[in-house]
Amino acid sequence: MNKGLKIFLITLLVILVIAIVVLTTLKLLHHNTQTENTSPYSQTAVNVMQELNLYDEINKRDYSKTVETLLETNELEKKYLDDYYQIDYANITNFGTVINELLNKNYTSEEINYITKNMASDINILLNMDYVNILAFKDITNFDINNLERYLTYQEENSEYDLATVVTYVNIGLDKEGYSEYSEYTEEEAQNDLTILVNKYHKLPDDYEPDDLVALSYSNGYTYYLRKEAAQAYEQLSSAALLDNVIVYPFSTYRSYDTQSKLYNRYVSRDGREAADTYSARPGFSEHQLGLAIDIRSNTLNDNLTDKDYEWMLDNSYKYGFIVRYPKGKQHITQFMEEPWHLRYLGIELATKVHDSGLTYDEYYDLYMK
Ligand code: DAL
Ligand code: ZN
Repeated sequence: MNKGLKIFLITLLVILVIAIVVLTTLKLLHHNTQTENTSPYSQTAVNVMQELNLYDEINKRDYSKTVETLLETNELEKKYLDDYYQIDYANITNFGTVINELLNKNYTSEEINYITKNMASDINILLNMDYVNILAFKDITNFDINNLERYLTYQEENSEYDLATVVTYVNIGLDKEGYSEYSEYTEEEAQNDLTILVNKYHKLPDDYEPDDLVALSYSNGYTYYLRKEAAQAYEQLSSAALLDNVIVYPFSTYRSYDTQSKLYNRYVSRDGREAADTYSARPGFSEHQLGLAIDIRSNTLNDNLTDKDYEWMLDNSYKYGFIVRYPKGKQHITQFMEEPWHLRYLGIELATKVHDSGLTYDEYYDLYMK
């Protein structure tokens, strides 16, 4: 073989080898890039799924941001993999930890989706408790997560009530002894809001005195005072009642803190505290101090209302802005025995709504006024 041909062949061989090496390298590189590109997950997530031997398993399923997030924070637990695919990603702090803890408490993915979407800021409350059937509260508009433990306890003790009733009663405070815990209005609130709820859980300031008390037209030597708006409404009410032959007189109207105090203490010495608490409010807790409550009596009786007059009030007083505040059969809610004669002024609009709802004001207030 001549030298020229030899050199040519060697050069050709070298070129061939180089070409093979370059092509193989390119092919390998190409293959690698392809592996990364086929996975929609971030490189961090891919690394973790490879460590966990879950690369194929995860990549044969649809992309899940939840899965990706748990991989990235290194919180993916294999046993919950199927659940993760049912859980929507939510932009909340410590998403992975929260999800795992909820799964650990046996919450379903449906419940977890509800919780992260609707209760994001209150998840800690759930994390500090055993599993709660949280979806049962879904449609209860006055549900308050801060009362959750109390709902559960109250429900256990009062299995005859449905959950909506449990929620309302606990919100009112009925799971606690009356007067054991209460909030107190400011003088401004009492003066400016004719609709405030006063009961064994809502107190008026000791010194509160309405600044617009006026005398009712009826007087029997004693003058009866109510706040102006309520006084005018009462005149309308009693005139309208009269046309239906329902003849009523004021019996007790505005009572100052001191008057209520004397009255209550008199009842306590007569009947004992426990009995007195069923029919007389402690000072500061009476609607009479608002100047918006009036006890009426039938003309045929000394200090009470006939059944007929009571029925008329139930059916008509709202048209003039009053509700029967302590109706029969509601003692377990109002915390006072029935007082057919005690009317509370709320204004026509609200009194009508309360009347139509069939609820006590305690319930109505919790459901619609907060
Ligand atoms: N008798 C009612 C409850 C009151 O004392 O205000
Ligand atoms: Zn009264």
